[in-house]
Amino acid sequence: TYVISSPCIDVKDRACVDECPVDCIYEGARMLYIHPDECVDCGACEPVCPAEAIFFENDVPDKEASFTRINAEFFDDLGSPGGATGLGPVDADHPDVESIPVQET
Ligand code: F3S
Ligand code: F3S
Repeated sequence: TYVISSPCIDVKDRACVDECPVDCIYEGARMLYIHPDECVDCGACEPVCPAEAIFFENDVPDKEASFTRINAEFFDDLGSPGGATGLGPVDADHPDVESIPVQET
């Protein structure tokens, strides 16, 4: 699977969403998450993210390693919705993301 990591938090550019052929990039309150079972590893999302937040699972930098788990666990309660458009945005985040302070810009 591909993984969305911390540079997406409070950025949510959403360019990745338009590229995903299987609509497996789901919107949370502060970032987006890739469904690990629905992603078909096409790689289309990775180069279009202006924040460079997206990595193939084997290429996630060490400091972002927890996001492989965070993307997967975001779906613990959602299951496999089979498409982000049908589900719509979720007004919540993984607890580890909710605990990250909002950066002053
Ligand atoms: Fe986030 Fe980058 Fe997609 S900022 S919404 S992972 S294009
Ligand atoms: Fe979707 Fe392909 Fe990325 S299936 S999540 S665009 S790797």
